[in-house]
Amino acid sequence: MKDILLRVRGATKLFGAVQALVDADLDVHHGEVVAIVGDNAAGKSTLARAIAGIYRLTSGTMELEGTPVDFASASEALNAGVATVFQELALAENLDVTSNIFLGRELKSLGLLDERQMHELAREYLDRLNSRIPSTTTRLSELSAGQRQCVSIARTLVGNPKLIVLDEPTASLSVSQTAEVLSHIQSLRDTGMGVILISHSLTDVRAVADRIEVLRHGRNNGSFNAAHAAYEDVLAAITGATRLER
Ligand SMILES: Nc1ncnc2c1ncn2[C@@H]1O[C@H](COP(=O)(O)OP(=O)(O)OP(=O)(O)O)[C@@H](O)[C@H]1O
Ligand SMILES: [Mg+2]
Repeated sequence: MKDILLRVRGATKLFGAVQALVDADLDVHHGEVVAIVGDNAAGKSTLARAIAGIYRLTSGTMELEGTPVDFASASEALNAGVATVFQELALAENLDVTSNIFLGRELKSLGLLDERQMHELAREYLDRLNSRIPSTTTRLSELSAGQRQCVSIARTLVGNPKLIVLDEPTASLSVSQTAEVLSHIQSLRDTGMGVILISHSLTDVRAVADRIEVLRHGRNNGSFNAAHAAYEDVLAAITGATRLER
């Protein structure tokens, strides 16, 4: 099924006696934003990390565009087209926007850093995200939290991924900064990428996602069309007031 970008089936991850994920399924299509919601410890980050190659599933399968994948590392996932922004931001305050976007993956030409090409590409990524960051030579310390998050997302575009995984990208942002990041997510979808958005904010999720997948105690506990989902129904699935019959 090549039209399905990512297909996860029966994902189970045990940490000793802790069942972080139990038999979880997930599909992501091209040009689709799928939100994963759930209470603390529901298994959201664990699923994201498995998809990103950071954790290996205890059992279960993953397919990317119909090809079975079993990533041994984040760089393997990245090479296959899966890029991730994690809950904990890892950016260098004293470096400029371009350097942060290419950190650890600098472009070289004849053994020298190709500054010009990196700045050009950085600009292109920012434009693709409809970012208002004026210059790629601005130091990170001079940017707002929302603009920094935009740099983190732009960073994932290096290497033209197919799927982007965002683990709580708006967690520490103000209302307007959140709106800014959500519009970046829409821009990604508009270029045909698949996006997995993990969030605690049902308002954000309903604003930007196409589909909402609920995890509870590591298991699927509901799937909603974001445009039609009633707030109370999603909430009930999160808190366990409604249980998915399987
Ligand atoms: N590396 C690890 N070692 C041991 N247990 C872990 C590890 N990572 C996650 N867990 C456990 O797995 C469960 C799911 O954690 P996970 O981080 O996936 O939850 P989450 O849904 O992302 O929660 P939050 O909303 O708080 O970010 C928790 O009980 C957590 O303590
Ligand atoms: Mg988490």
